[in-house]
Amino acid sequence: MEKTFIMLKPDAVQRGLVGQIIARFEAKGCKLVGMKLMSVDQALAEQHYAEHKGKSFFEPTVQYIMSSPVVAMVWGGKNVVALARELMGATNPANANPGSIRGSFGMDISRNVIHGSDSVASAEREIALYFRPEELCDYRKAGEEWLSE
Ligand code: GTP
Ligand code: MG
Repeated sequence: MEKTFIMLKPDAVQRGLVGQIIARFEAKGCKLVGMKLMSVDQALAEQHYAEHKGKSFFEPTVQYIMSSPVVAMVWGGKNVVALARELMGATNPANANPGSIRGSFGMDISRNVIHGSDSVASAEREIALYFRPEELCDYRKAGEEWLSE
């Protein structure tokens, strides 16, 4: 089963949006494989955003995800990396479809509520950054047979 790494960023936690956002992934049919509330330190934040090092928004974005606890999650499902990006909406909430998570809950690119891996390779890298293998649960979820053949 494909897996993706999702982070509910500090603004989502502080604004009390955690439950509503998780509910969207559950309602879609995604399978929760791992989850924890945690603080991100400088080393982890810089590794997370390594692809953006040198860009103007690198430093503020690193500070942003260190500014308060985040909810780190692994979700599984059919084509879940791309599916999660659809649920999240465009990077800038101002341009995101209003039905998406960023479109529903955000106003500005610097506080865009949620992170999701942008490819299967990124998902593998990010899951390994945030979770030890034993923190991920391999289980059969009730109702899986009603989601696809
Ligand atoms: P993530 O899921 O968070 O990785 O977002 P993304 O894949 O949609 O966008 P990208 O990887 O290009 O950018 C990473 C993060 O940097 C974004 O989610 C924003 O938080 C931040 N960011 C990107 N571009 C800008 C920008 O132009 N200004 C500011 N302030 N932040 C930006
Ligand atoms: Mg990205």
